[in-house]
Amino acid sequence: MLKTKLWNIEFKNPVFLAAGVMGETGSALKRMAKNGAGAVCTKSVGIEKKEGHKNPTMVEVEGGFLNAMGLPNPGVEEYILELERIKSEMKRMNVKIIGSIYGKNETEFQKVAENLIPHVDVLELNISCPHAGGGYGSSIGQDKCLSKNVVSAVKSVSDIPVIVKLTPNVTDIKEISNSVVNAGADGIVAINTLGPGMVIDIESKKPVLANKFGGMSGKAIKPIAVKNVYDICSTVEVPVIGVGGITTGYDAIEFMMAGASGVQVGTGVYYRGYDIFQKINQEIEEFLKNRDLNLKDIIGISRK
Ligand code: DHB
Repeated sequence: MLKTKLWNIEFKNPVFLAAGVMGETGSALKRMAKNGAGAVCTKSVGIEKKEGHKNPTMVEVEGGFLNAMGLPNPGVEEYILELERIKSEMKRMNVKIIGSIYGKNETEFQKVAENLIPHVDVLELNISCPHAGGGYGSSIGQDKCLSKNVVSAVKSVSDIPVIVKLTPNVTDIKEISNSVVNAGADGIVAINTLGPGMVIDIESKKPVLANKFGGMSGKAIKPIAVKNVYDICSTVEVPVIGVGGITTGYDAIEFMMAGASGVQVGTGVYYRGYDIFQKINQEIEEFLKNRDLNLKDIIGISRK
């Protein structure tokens, strides 16, 4: 009932693990796959190993978390070894792998992509990390020309679907969406973290995060994510994957009604545990069954 075909790939369900959570090792990805995810997304990988920011990298706030991990990753070559280790079991479970990559410019993106493509089913471009650039919280995804160049460069070397994760921190999400789709993007993932934001500890009189600021995720950003998905779906034809504050099947359905063909769950794992994927799938299925609906019936229905 929940089978979902996107880019000619069949996913056993439309509930995926989002980038950045439980994606640093192959065994963590496998664990999420065993807990019912239809696909799992890696932590964003770059050309070279990166230690990431010092602790604390995460702080809980009302309605979610701020995080500034600083894109910690072992570099693409090491990461591929992690994927090789879980490859056969992921095939056996029929769980697809989305490889998230980052870079500081289109040349870096292209190099990482060329390495990773043979080892993943779909490539996700993280052009929206607030910690990839000059340290001010801005990202490639805030500039439509830079975004377009990154997508074109990766598309020119890719034989698998390329999807692009957008930042909500822009004035016009439709403009950026059109520009990445015109450059060849096969899908859009929306949204990455909001902000960034800051928490100050009033006793030490200092920002809590070592990086001072971090991207906001969790329940509080859900209405913003839903609106972004709704707007994106009104301007592009490619599949959109909704992400931002999803913890229940009802949240997932809300995104689908806005137009999302699938969803990703990140921070939700902290609230409901590793088996959140099974739980969300069950809740979607029950909702549909009780109303005699199919998944296809609800996608974009709020727009009609
Ligand atoms: C990080 C990456 C992101 O894409 C994001 O939105 C927030 C934080 C990071 O690794 O620091």
